[in-house]
Parts: sequence; C-alpha cells; structure tokens
Amino acid sequence: MSATDSLVAPGPDPDDKAIEAALRPKNLDDFVGQKRVREQLSLVLEASRLRGRSADHVLLSGPPGLGKTTLSMIIAAEMNAPLRISSGPAIQHAGDLAAILSSLTEGEVLFLDEIHRMSRPAEEMLYMAMEDFRVDIIVGKGAGATAIPLELPPFTLVGATTRAGLLPGPLRDRFGFTGHLEFYSTDELELVLRRSAMLMDMKVNSAGFAEVAGRSRGTPRIANRLLRRVRDWALVHGIEQIDARSAGAALDMYEVDALGLDRLDRAVLTALITKFNGGPVGLSTLAIAVGEEPETVETVAEPYLVREGLLGRTPRGRIATRAAWEHLGLQMPENVAAAMPQNMFSGPGTNTSSAAADESAPET
Ligand SMILES: Nc1ncnc2c1ncn2[C@@H]1O[C@H](COP(=O)(O)OP(=O)(O)OP(=O)(O)O)[C@@H](O)[C@H]1O
Ligand SMILES: [Mg+2]
Repeated sequence: MSATDSLVAPGPDPDDKAIEAALRPKNLDDFVGQKRVREQLSLVLEASRLRGRSADHVLLSGPPGLGKTTLSMIIAAEMNAPLRISSGPAIQHAGDLAAILSSLTEGEVLFLDEIHRMSRPAEEMLYMAMEDFRVDIIVGKGAGATAIPLELPPFTLVGATTRAGLLPGPLRDRFGFTGHLEFYSTDELELVLRRSAMLMDMKVNSAGFAEVAGRSRGTPRIANRLLRRVRDWALVHGIEQIDARSAGAALDMYEVDALGLDRLDRAVLTALITKFNGGPVGLSTLAIAVGEEPETVETVAEPYLVREGLLGRTPRGRIATRAAWEHLGLQMPENVAAAMPQNMFSGPGTNTSSAAADESAPET
C-alpha cells in the first residue's frame, strides 16, 4: 500500500464512491452532528419555503469527507428541487458555465464542488448570475464581439470547498449562508456508524462502534471505510456480532491503530523519536529517514499528527511531543522534555505555555 492510498486518507477512493451513495443520509434529520450548520441551514431552507422562493446561495467549507456533497444533496431534497452537479475544475471557460446556467430550471439547485478551482472568467460570470440571475453571453471575438444578456430563472447555488481561504472575497460575499463543517466527535461518529451498520446489515455492539469511531480521525468517510474493512474481517473469521476486540483486531491488521494512525504516520513518529531523539529535525531529513518524499510526509502524514498534538512544527524543525512518545509506549527523557518549546510540551488541550514559561532548561 502506498502512502496516498491509505485506509485513513480523507479523500474518496474508487471503492468509496459506489458505497457512499448508498450510505448518504437523504434528509437533514438523518444528517449526524454539525449541529450549528444543520440548525442554521434548516432555518434558511424553511424561510425560503415560507417565502415561496428559491433558497439563498449556500457555501459549504471544510476538510474532505465531512459531508459537503451529502449536504448539497440534502438541500435539493429538502427544497424538493432538482439537483445539477458540476465542479470548479470542470468549468474552465466561461462558456462551460454559461451552458450550465442557461439550462437551469426554476428553483434548481446547482452544486459546484471545489468551487475554488474555477477559472477567473467563469467566476466573474458567476458573480452576476448569483446576484442578478442574469449572464452576458459574449458572441464573436475582438472588436465585433457583443454581449447578449440572458435572464436566468432563480436558482440556488451550493458551493463546496476544502479551501475557503482561496475563495476571492467577492465570491464569498455573494453567498447568503456559509456553513463551516468541523471534524466530528467520537460520539457523533458512533451515530454515523450505527446508521451505516444498519444499512449494511451488520451486528456491532456499542463498544465495537466506539472502537471504530476512535480510529476514524473525526471523519465520517473514514469511519464508513473502516467499518467495511471490519465487516470483511468478521466475515472471514466467522464472527457474527462485532465487539471492541474484534473491531480492534481487524483494524490492527489493516495497520490503523487506536488513534487512527496508519503505517506512515507511525513511521514518522518512530523515526523522529528513535533516530533523532524526538527532534527538532528538518523535514527533508525526516522524510529520508522514512523513505518518503518530503511532500508526502508534509501533506499526507503531518496534518493529522499536528492536529492530534503528536508532532510540532518549529522554526528549527519537527519535534515529537510527549503524547507521541507515550503513544509509542516510550518515556520522554527529562532532558528532551526540558528542551521542548513550552507550548509543544503536552498533548492537545493541555497547553501550559504561560505557567512554565521561565522554566526552560538549556539544551543538552
Ligand atoms: N453528517 C453525516 N452523517 C452521516 N454520514 C455522513 C455525514 N457526513 C458525511 N457522511 C458520510 O461520509 C461520506 C462522505 O461525505 P461527503 O462525500 O459528503 O464528503 P465531502 O465533504 O463532500 O468530501 P470531499 O471534500 O472529499 O468532496 C458520505 O458517503 C456519507 O455517507
Ligand atoms: Mg464532496
């Protein structure tokens, strides 16, 4: 298995696509978690139903696998409206967008995935379409070119992006509602898994769900994927009811550990600790030590390690936190602990920076 087709990669793999369609909740009530976004969105939709108008344009942002595509489908379903799906990369010319916009029917929901990857001219056409439900179609070239205005029926644009920061301000401002999706808690993931297990006709007890949820990196897509692997394992081992032990054993076999780290994640931490005494060490040196490209280490392994408070990025290089040592079952030596930047001293949520500020010992 290469580093990028890991079981805990947040993006969809080919195998996910078919099954994801089957597991997608179809209405807001079945959509687990994201309470704030769900409540706000439900208000937006209800208000538009009461006014008898198409809903405000909606922007959904957040990391891969948290439910942006799912929510866009739910919006269309809740509005009882047809859904048209396209994406930023598919719209390279303004003409591509014009073709889509001019064929929309009244009230239709247009979902543009990866909206931050649309071309500039298309983006500018979209501004006018969103605001005035109108586009100018340019006919001809050069001096003879003329703009033919075209009225559009009212529609609702749902844009999705994993990189809200890359959206130009004028585009962001034209959305009536922006929902930012957050990583899910383990409790929420358990609910996602319960629902999926029911649809997949699997028997799993509460501890079994908790075990899978804990390894799913806060991401429903990963949770569903791990659940399928557990199902395979249970089938082969002739296990009817899955508990924490069987779920754990299955996922251990697929090299997804109790925190949801995969082989590469653990290799990075292990190298950092055993070869460099916990760091700091430069990215490229660390990458060589695990036999990967620096970019793979930086974009595939590091984000989650940093999020979990296992790895720190400092101006002098990467360091393993105390939580990382403990996760590998090792004790952080006192001199290493003393040399750590104070805000990297402990795991997530226990930042001790101010309290211990002047206790820093010299490096040894
Ligand atoms: N809140 C949720 N409740 C239940 N299942 C969910 C939820 N969010 C996501 N899922 C499940 O996770 C899978 C991935 O979700 P989705 O495709 O909507 O993610 P996404 O945010 O669009 O990801 P990407 O950025 O990669 O396009 C779906 O198949 C769906 O079954
Ligand atoms: Mg999506």
